[in-house]
Amino acid sequence: MSNSFEETLRFIRESAQRELAQADTEQKVSQIRVAYLGRKGKLTQLLRGLRELPPGQRPRAGELANALKAELEKQIERLLVRLREEAKQRTLTEEKIDITLPGTPLVRGRLHPITQVMDQIVDIFTKMGFRVAEGPQVELDYYNFEALNIPRDHPARDMHDTFYFSEEVLLRTHTSPVQIRVMESQRPPIQIIAPGVVYRRDSDISHTPMFHQVEGLMVDEGISFVHLKGVLTSFVQQMFGEKTRLRFRPSFFPFTEPSAEVDIGCVICKGKGCRVCGGTGWLEILGSGMVDPEVFKTVGYDPEEVTGFAFGMGIERIAMLKYGINDIRLFFTNDMRFLEQF
Ligand code: DAH
Repeated sequence: MSNSFEETLRFIRESAQRELAQADTEQKVSQIRVAYLGRKGKLTQLLRGLRELPPGQRPRAGELANALKAELEKQIERLLVRLREEAKQRTLTEEKIDITLPGTPLVRGRLHPITQVMDQIVDIFTKMGFRVAEGPQVELDYYNFEALNIPRDHPARDMHDTFYFSEEVLLRTHTSPVQIRVMESQRPPIQIIAPGVVYRRDSDISHTPMFHQVEGLMVDEGISFVHLKGVLTSFVQQMFGEKTRLRFRPSFFPFTEPSAEVDIGCVICKGKGCRVCGGTGWLEILGSGMVDPEVFKTVGYDPEEVTGFAFGMGIERIAMLKYGINDIRLFFTNDMRFLEQF
């Protein structure tokens, strides 16, 4: 066998190994494979040239060339496996995500204290069988006053400090007009509450021009003052605690007869007498009474057939007493330090 053939083989082997030793990417290794073992590769061409050798030398030369081919293929394969593994390790360390980093905190909102107290009141009454009714905030004089037995020259109108749009149209000053709207549109038995917004031209430490009330109305055959006392006593105990003392104090409203205001034992001084309760030991929390026969006649009910009771309360006042808040305006000035406490 000619020395030059063996020398060529050695030369190919050395240069291939030098190049492979420097190849640090899969791509570079592939290029080397093509350059030596591809269709026009150096070793491939050498194998093709075997037939030009004298026949006696061909078997030995073929054996050597094929051995080199197998050796290079094996080396390349091993190198590729190593490079792939290294690349994988690199991404695993470089692209690591620290899942222990704290996330971006989401500020959690909450319901306004008035909404919370309103929901609580609605909850107490709906569990006693009352259904929620609603009426418009822009109301007619007829529903806000006239049908509730408060005619135009009635002194009770003075207490209401009404916002008027015109002679006939106004912002409702209480939720009582919903009583009339409900009775006009359905027959007894009736058992509703009407939560909602009301308006009065008044503003100081205990009044805002917009505030909230809940109205209640129960009408059926045989409803008496006992039902009124039972329902309102249960409400007070659920709202302010089972041991809360309460009293029914005679009062006057044009749309109820007889009428009573409900007081609870002062939540601040527990009845001893303080500035909040004006030294009396009692706090007024709502108005109530038996529906006046005049109101029944106006909506077309026969007062000989049905009786009923009604009540109305201010939500802000209930919330102030429950949480010991001394200025109603805190509810509506949007100070987060105040609102976040609820
Ligand atoms: N509407 C009255 C007010 O705003 C409260 C009230 C008193 C409602 C007696 C009633 C009631 O239903 O029977 O001052």
